[in-house]
Amino acid sequence: MSDRYGTFVQSGLGKQVAKNLGLPIPVTLERFEAGEKVVRGSVLFGAAPGDDARLSTAVAEVLQALHTEVFVANDDAHKDALTSVGIEVKNSGDNKDKYKVLVFDASNIAHAPDLKALYDFFHPVARQVEQSGRVIVIGRPPEECETIGSTLAQRALEGFVKSVGKEFKKGITAQLVYVSEGAESNLASTLSFLMSARSAYVSGQVVRVGAGNALQVDWSKPLAGKTALVTGASRGIGEAIARVLARDGAHVICLDIAPQQADLQRVAGEIGGSTLTLDITAADAGEKIAEAAAKRGGLDAIVHNAGVTRDKTLANMDEKQWDMVVDINLQSNAMINDYLFDHEVLNDNARIICVSSLSGIAGNLGQTNYATSKAGVIGLVSATAKKLKADNKGITINAVAPGFIETQMTAAIPFAIREAGRRMNSMSQGGLPVDVAETIAWFASPASGGVNGNTIRVCGQSLLGA
Ligand SMILES: NC(=O)c1ccc[n+]([C@@H]2O[C@H](COP(=O)([O-])OP(=O)(O)OC[C@H]3O[C@@H](n4cnc5c(N)ncnc54)[C@H](O)[C@@H]3O)[C@@H](O)[C@H]2O)c1
Repeated sequence: MSDRYGTFVQSGLGKQVAKNLGLPIPVTLERFEAGEKVVRGSVLFGAAPGDDARLSTAVAEVLQALHTEVFVANDDAHKDALTSVGIEVKNSGDNKDKYKVLVFDASNIAHAPDLKALYDFFHPVARQVEQSGRVIVIGRPPEECETIGSTLAQRALEGFVKSVGKEFKKGITAQLVYVSEGAESNLASTLSFLMSARSAYVSGQVVRVGAGNALQVDWSKPLAGKTALVTGASRGIGEAIARVLARDGAHVICLDIAPQQADLQRVAGEIGGSTLTLDITAADAGEKIAEAAAKRGGLDAIVHNAGVTRDKTLANMDEKQWDMVVDINLQSNAMINDYLFDHEVLNDNARIICVSSLSGIAGNLGQTNYATSKAGVIGLVSATAKKLKADNKGITINAVAPGFIETQMTAAIPFAIREAGRRMNSMSQGGLPVDVAETIAWFASPASGGVNGNTIRVCGQSLLGA
């Protein structure tokens, strides 16, 4: 689906017209291309003063491994954390160029007045961030803080980050990462994803990184040797997921219903995957998936992407429309997971990824059935995450909640509603299926063992449900 307005405002005339009328001017978001560097520019690092340098050291180790150009203020509290891992830091006072990434370790902030450290670090460089740049604040989960002061201060970071996401424009994203004490070494996959162009349409999000097995990966092929199954893989978002997981090295079992057979075979053929024709609501769906997985030595990832809408106001909705949507979008996911757990189809350190929706977070007119199913998916993820933690096999479950994504589904929305959905976010544009797929690939990575129980919106920081 082409975004004609988005293309028009890229022209000289379009820009002028949009500026005069006060209309949004979406920029072309930078997206990841295989083989490119994780960070396409320089990084400015800073830390709030305090004795605990564990998170600064974790950030330093990631930056060191990426060989990025790193700037830091001469008097920064944790400058030593960078130099001690061998980074040749540059003095930020000497840099007049723009930064691609601003990373700030806020974990030592434990009182309201000390939040000023955010102002002190970000205010001078607020206009010094490149287009499609990244702002990342790192802290401790408020629910795990021991004092009232540190709880309120760490919780306060969320308001700061979400406001920056709305202010900076130009495709710049802002995120908050809460890292549990002792889980510092699990930060790498999340920080790399958020700094890279893979997270183009993810903004204003709070990610929690906790305990877990974060395995070493070859960053250019993190899924090499792995088998992933994607439901609804014949088109739209599912097709993009299958392509990205295959790009990252996985063998992908592409699943869809019989009427989609031709497209399913095309997608699987193009990515060197295999096919499984199946209705995920069938009573033997779990068994059929297990049979397909057994041929490849079990599953390392399953993506519950297949979904449907049957929109009607509640008063006009017939029973079938309710049943079908809840059955496909929610009950099938729970039923298949149960089968996979009971029959040990998932390998150790496997990844389960569900697809929720902004409707499940904000609700939507005409979507009581759909929003119920997609909110249920979030419940499924949080409850299963607890079970998986207790199982201790390194398996994780997370969800994406897409906002307005340019697909056949959104192309069918009436023009005025479609334009509103497209523009009412910090990027002033719709996302692409690949944006959802890249977020899923981050969850799917063996390096994301500390990421469990998250629901991350891929919505360009939509105003809905925020
Ligand atoms: N497009 C968006 O903007 C958007 C926003 C939020 C969430 N989502 C969610 O993303 C997912 C993919 O959406 P999409 O836009 O690509 O939709 P789509 O309709 O293009 O693709 C969905 C796929 O699921 C398959 N499917 C449906 N029922 C099935 C069943 N019973 N068994 C097996 N396969 C089945 C379909 O055949 C189709 O290939 C869905 O879960 C949807 O709810 C989409």
